[in-house]
Order: sequence, then structure tokens, then C-alpha cells
Amino acid sequence: MSGLQELAGKTAVVTGGASGIGRGIAQALVAEGMQVVIADVEADALARTAAEIGAVGIQADVSSMDSIQALADEVRGRFGLVHVLCNNAGVGSTAPIARMTPSDWQWMLGVNLMGVIHGTRAFLPLLAANPDGGHIVNTASMSGFRIVPGLGGYGVTKFGVMAFSETLALELAAEGSKVGVSVLCPGPVHSNIKASTRNRPGELAGGALADSDLEQSEEGRRLRWLDPIEVGRIVVDAIRGGDLYALTHPEMGPMVEERHRAIEAAFRAAAGAPA
Ligand SMILES: NC(=O)c1ccc[n+]([C@@H]2O[C@H](COP(=O)([O-])OP(=O)(O)OC[C@H]3O[C@@H](n4cnc5c(N)ncnc54)[C@H](O)[C@@H]3O)[C@@H](O)[C@H]2O)c1
Repeated sequence: MSGLQELAGKTAVVTGGASGIGRGIAQALVAEGMQVVIADVEADALARTAAEIGAVGIQADVSSMDSIQALADEVRGRFGLVHVLCNNAGVGSTAPIARMTPSDWQWMLGVNLMGVIHGTRAFLPLLAANPDGGHIVNTASMSGFRIVPGLGGYGVTKFGVMAFSETLALELAAEGSKVGVSVLCPGPVHSNIKASTRNRPGELAGGALADSDLEQSEEGRRLRWLDPIEVGRIVVDAIRGGDLYALTHPEMGPMVEERHRAIEAAFRAAAGAPA
């Protein structure tokens, strides 16, 4: 993929831009001279962040196709062209799979996976219509590479975002599209994901998913926590480089290798070769 070199003066949309990683991405894109629209379900944080970082805030719910189509229509009406879409909004509450209810699944799949699907569906035609192309960045996670007990619902959505992004990248490249795709796979980043249930809609209330603060846990204290703006700069590099995978924590590579080695060993065992 060739990437989008010239960012200044172009328009970007960042979902979940009111907080955390989305805010960091938006700040980094503003610093590149882009006009940045942040879209978020949380009205107060959205207005505050937009004013603080010099972005335009538009309220939208990524789990609703109608809401995201209305966002795309408004952005096109106000800015004309759109060059960068960051499908970043997400929630990260935890529960063992055996205890998760249909409303737990509906909420988590709706935001983390359908949000990426809705954003792409609404904005890809706009990006593809640009003579100088465009770029989509989907936020997955290290949980899109390897599973963690308690994060099963989350992992299902992030493996989904990974499959969606890898497939879209191949399909667009095969048709010679000027739209590139990156999948952002952050490790630990300071944010408000530990309070994700603040945005759980009333009609999907109840269930087993609960907030948990990895940052304060014993395991969390051993990890390297990034500030969102550092992730934003990694995203800018991925857009320019046309990188499929945007990685923040190279030291976590061995965890991915461990999973792949287990899968390879299973294939060797199935073929009757020594594992
Ligand atoms: N923080 C981490 O360590 C980490 C690591 C890997 C991946 N991620 C991913 O990064 C992304 C951003 O999360 P974060 O950590 O910055 O958390 P955050 O809670 O600080 O930010 C998430 C934003 O998404 C918004 N949002 C939630 N539901 C929405 C909806 N239905 N429609 C629109 N906006 C909605 C929230 O209001 C919030 O502003 C998520 O996709 C998350 O899974 C985070």
C-alpha cells in the first residue's frame, strides 16, 4: 500500500474521539494540519474535547447505521471531501463468556464490530471518490492477536475487526483502489476504557459485563502504558506509510508468536509429524 502522504488541509473523522486513544489520534491529525471531526456518543466530553484540541465535534452512535450515515452526510455537507476515517470507538468491559447475556453481546458487538462496519459502509464511498485517495484506520487491539480470559467478548470483536481490516485491505488493493487500510493494535494506553459502562445504553442494561481497571492491577503495573498522543503519532506514520498493522508495543510480539507456534504445532500433529 502506498499511503496518504499529504495530510495538511485534508479532512479526517475519528469516532470515539472525545476520550483516550481517539482523542490522541485526533490531536495528532490536528497537529498535521488536518481538519478533524470527532464523533462520539458522550455529548459533554465531546464538546469539551473538541474545544480543547481544535476539532469539530458531532454527536453520533457508531452502533447505529442511521446515526453514522447522518454523520457522513453532515461531514460531506460541511467539508466536501473526507480523506481519513478512524473507526476507533470501543468499549472494553469484562466478563467470563459463560456469564455473558444476549444484551452484553449486543452492546459489545454493536460498538466494537458493527461500529467499524457502519463507519466503513458510510465513508468508503466518500474516500474512494477522492482523486488523491484516502485511508481507513480501524482500532483493534492486542486482543485481536491473542485471547485473554475474561476478555472473551472483547476479543471476539477485536478478532473480527482484524479479519475485517485484513480482508478490506486485500480487496481494495486488488481493485486498484487509492484507499488504504490500517488496523491499529494498541497494547496498554491510558484512557477511560476502564469506565466503559458509562456509555451502555439503557435498552441494553443489565448483563454480566463489568468495568475493570487493568491499570491498577498487579499485572497492569508490570506493563508499559502509553499516552494517547503517542498512539496518535503511530497512526499518522501508518497512514503515511500505508502500513496494514499499526503496532504500539513491539515487546508484546512474543505473545503473538506463542499463539502461532501452538497453531503450527497442531497442524504438524494433525499431519502426523512430531510436534
Ligand atoms: N486503552 C487501551 O489500553 C486500549 C488497548 C487496545 C485497544 N483499545 C481500543 O481503543 C479504542 C478507544 O478506547 P479507549 O481506550 O481510548 O477508551 P475511552 O473510553 O477513553 O474512549 C472510547 C470512546 O468511545 C466512545 N464511545 C463508546 N461507545 C460509543 C458509541 N456507541 N458511539 C460512539 N462513540 C462511543 C466513548 O464515549 C469514548 O469517548 C477502543 O476501540 C478500544 O477497544 C484500547
